[in-house]
Amino acid sequence: MRWLAAVGGIAVVVVIAAGVYLFGGFYNVSAAVDDPDLMNWTLLRIREASINRRADAPPPIKLDDPATIRQGAIEFAEHGCANCHGAPGVKWAKFSEGLNPGPPDLKESMSDEAPAHVFWVVSNGIKMTAMPSFSKAGVSDEDIWEIVAFIKNLPNISEADYKAWTAPPPTVATPPRAQDTPSPAQNTTPPARSNK
Ligand code: HEC
Repeated sequence: MRWLAAVGGIAVVVVIAAGVYLFGGFYNVSAAVDDPDLMNWTLLRIREASINRRADAPPPIKLDDPATIRQGAIEFAEHGCANCHGAPGVKWAKFSEGLNPGPPDLKESMSDEAPAHVFWVVSNGIKMTAMPSFSKAGVSDEDIWEIVAFIKNLPNISEADYKAWTAPPPTVATPPRAQDTPSPAQNTTPPARSNK
């Protein structure tokens, strides 16, 4: 029975030490400091297991349909994904290099992942990382599946295609209406809009 008391004593000391370490401010939350390999390895396993247990939605659309992939590219650009992950011919924003964990290059990291995995991550996000939940941010499942189609086909999408698909529509120049053009007399004062 003495060894039981010893184990209990050690357990109490470990809990107190962990409490002092964590709540006493000794753990450094700085994103500029990398975690030890063991911690990274553990967090990665926890993330994979958590996603694998939950990601089981079958794709409701055909993921290799060109129109869907193209629409997914537009959604990807509109929702700001390229700021963190980059896109064909688009460099990620400089700030994303300061994120810890860093956003992966999806072209490489998602090629072997099941579509359900990609959908789950984009829909739910990942806690304690910079990866947002786009469902929480109001993006529909339909749009997220289009984004999945785009991500799964990333290796086949050229820089030129991505650029052409996501370019803003050309603005049609409308000639100014007569009453919008200030008369020479009005030029001395701030132009007054007579149609307001
Ligand atoms: C503010 C930065 C940021 C934005 C914006 C962002 N992500 Fe992420 N994303 C991350 C980070 C950081 C990770 C890595 C999380 C980790 O290591 O657990 C990640 C991970 C992922 C993963 C991989 C998850 C895995 O299992 O490896 C996918 C897929 C993904 N993001 C897709 C997207 C899509 C699609 C969008 C836009 C709709 C997007 N992300 C927008 C930061 C971002």
